[in-house]
Amino acid sequence: MPLRRTHVREYSYTTMAKSDLILSLVRAGAVGDKTMLRSTVEALMADERAKSHHILADRLQRALQSVSVTSSSLTNTQPAQANGRDTILEQTPRIRFNDLVLTLPASKEGKQLVEEHMRADVLRAHGYEPRHRVLLSGPPGNGKTSYAEAIAEALALPFFVVRYDALIGSYLGETNTRLRKLFDYVRTQPCVLFFDEFDSIGKERGDTHETGEIKRVVSFLLMQIDQLPSYVLTIAATNHAELLDRAVWRRFQLRIAFPEPKPHEIAVFLEKILMSWPEHPRIAAKSLAARLGAMSYAEAGDFCQNVRRRHILGLGEIGIDSAISVELDLWAARVKPEAMNGKRPDKTTAPAKRRRAATESEGERRIRKKTGTI
Ligand SMILES: Nc1ncnc2c1ncn2[C@@H]1O[C@H](COP(=O)(O)OP(=O)(O)OP(=O)(O)O)[C@@H](O)[C@H]1O
Ligand SMILES: [Mg+2]
Repeated sequence: MPLRRTHVREYSYTTMAKSDLILSLVRAGAVGDKTMLRSTVEALMADERAKSHHILADRLQRALQSVSVTSSSLTNTQPAQANGRDTILEQTPRIRFNDLVLTLPASKEGKQLVEEHMRADVLRAHGYEPRHRVLLSGPPGNGKTSYAEAIAEALALPFFVVRYDALIGSYLGETNTRLRKLFDYVRTQPCVLFFDEFDSIGKERGDTHETGEIKRVVSFLLMQIDQLPSYVLTIAATNHAELLDRAVWRRFQLRIAFPEPKPHEIAVFLEKILMSWPEHPRIAAKSLAARLGAMSYAEAGDFCQNVRRRHILGLGEIGIDSAISVELDLWAARVKPEAMNGKRPDKTTAPAKRRRAATESEGERRIRKKTGTI
C-alpha cells in the first residue's frame, strides 16, 4: 500500500539531503504550498543550526518571517512569481565597474556598497544591515543605468528592471495590486531591483494635476520599498531629482550624482576607446575631447562608433585620422537638444562676453537674463 502523502513528507524532512530540501523549496514556491515551504525552511534551519551555522539559520528565520507577511501570494490560485515577474525585465548584468569612467563619490560609494553586501554577515553580527536603497540622479547618458547594472554584476545578482508599461494599470487599485505582486516576487531572492526614470512614478505628490489614485500608488510604493529586506538592493534613477517627492528622498540611504562630465573625464573615456582600436589615431584624446565640447558619455561613445563605422566601410581607403576629421565636421553640424526645443544656443564668443561683463550695469544684466537675449 502506498504511503499517504503527509507520511512521505514527514519521513523526507528528517532524512532529506540539502539538495532535496532546496528542490522542495522551489516546488513549494512554484505551486504556492505555504505549509510545504514552512516545513522545508524549518528543516533547512535545523540542518544549519546542527552545523553551528547560526548566522545562516538566523537569516532563514528572518526570511521565513517575511514569507508569512506575504502569505496571500502563496495561497493564490495563480503562482505569485509568474504574476510579479510580468512587471519586471530580468537581465543578466554584463557591464563592469571597470568599464565605466566614474568620478570620486560615485566610484567610492559603489565600492563601499558592494563591500557592505559582500560582507553583510559581518555587519549583521554587529547589528547592522548593508545599505540597500540607492538613488542615482543626473542628466541623460552619463551612466546611471550602467552603474546599477555594474553593482549587480559585482555582486553576481540578477538585475531586475521594473517595467512601468506592465505595472501601471488603468483601473482603480490595479497598479497597487501589481506593485504588491512585484514586491512579493523580488523579495524571494537577493537581487538588484532597478527603477529607471523614477520621477515618472515617485514625483512630488503636491502636484495639482495628480489624482488621489497616484498619491496612493506613491505612498504604497514607498511603503513597499521600506519593507524590502536588505538583500534586495533597490536602485532608482532619475534625470529630474528636483521633481521627486521629499518623502522619496528620505527613503534613499545613498544618493549619488552623475553630473555632466568635464572635458578631462571625456578625455579619459575617449582614451580608453581610441586605444582599443586596431589603428591608433594621431589626435590625442584630450584634444579630441576639446574639439567635441560639452557632451554626455553616451554621445562621446556614439561619436566613436560613427568614426569606426566610417573607417571600417572605407576598407583601407579611409585612414582613422580622416574618418575622425569627417565625423568632427558632421558632429559640429548635428541637431542639438537646444535647437530642438526652439532655444537659441549661446554663440557669444568668450572675449565678447568678457567685454560685455565689464561694461554692463546690474540692471541691464538682469533684463538681458529675463528676456533671454545673449
Ligand atoms: N560613466 C560612464 N563611463 C563609461 N561609459 C558610459 C558612462 N556613462 C554612460 N556611458 C555609456 O553611455 C551609454 C548610456 O549610459 P546609461 O544608459 O548608463 O546612461 P543613463 O545615465 O542611465 O541615461 P538615461 O538618463 O538616459 O537613462 C552606456 O551604454 C555606456 O556605453
Ligand atoms: Mg538610464
